[in-house]
Amino acid sequence: MSCINIAKKAAARAAVDRHVKSGNIIGIGSGSTVVFAVERLAERVSKEALKVKCVPTSFQARQLVIQHNLPLTDLEIHPELDICIDGADEVDSQMNLIKGGGGCLLQEKIVASCSKKLVIIADYTKDSQKLGDQYKKGIPIEVSPIAFVPIQNRIQKLYGGKVELRMAVNKAGPVITDSGNFILDWREFNQDINWNEINTELLLMPGIVDTGLFIQMASISYFGLADGSFKSRECL
Ligand code: A5P
Repeated sequence: MSCINIAKKAAARAAVDRHVKSGNIIGIGSGSTVVFAVERLAERVSKEALKVKCVPTSFQARQLVIQHNLPLTDLEIHPELDICIDGADEVDSQMNLIKGGGGCLLQEKIVASCSKKLVIIADYTKDSQKLGDQYKKGIPIEVSPIAFVPIQNRIQKLYGGKVELRMAVNKAGPVITDSGNFILDWREFNQDINWNEINTELLLMPGIVDTGLFIQMASISYFGLADGSFKSRECL
């Protein structure tokens, strides 16, 4: 296993072992690190007879839950979750996050906002001082397809940097999210930005459905290290 995967696995196992209890309704995030969390959850469910129900945050998460024979539920049946376990593209010293590298930010943010605790699992490369230090792919922004050009122009004019439409691989055309929207990636911005303010401003622009900025939503982050150990950071 690569160092990165060893680290992802360590973070995922620590989160599942420390935070999941029998009876929990659990939000299942998306991405490659969450795969290790679902594996560990399935292991605990079978060994310890834990009773849990899972709310997926994407098509990928739903498939993972089904493949591991974990009970599925949704926000209609369980609008309040005990915990959500999810990955991140970057976590800053204040526990603000960039998410949405996998294009699932909208459902991830909705499920996280319904959870008493958002537990982040990530490898050591995601740990950062300031947002934008580590994740060079930028801030993902989910937009209504008809608004992508006006939104691109507005963000570039107001805040600078480059805003690009995320294109699909192996398909001619843009990435379409699980909710039928497009993703813009905002790069090369000025890093002295106040992310809380910018996020609020972006969310007021008609056409922006949500942003990959998760400001003060996470309760704790686990960063796996290359030797299989981990460190954690809690929200103060
Ligand atoms: C999905 O849209 C993202 O928010 C992921 O949670 C994030 O990109 C982390 O993914 P990895 O666990 O694959 O690094």
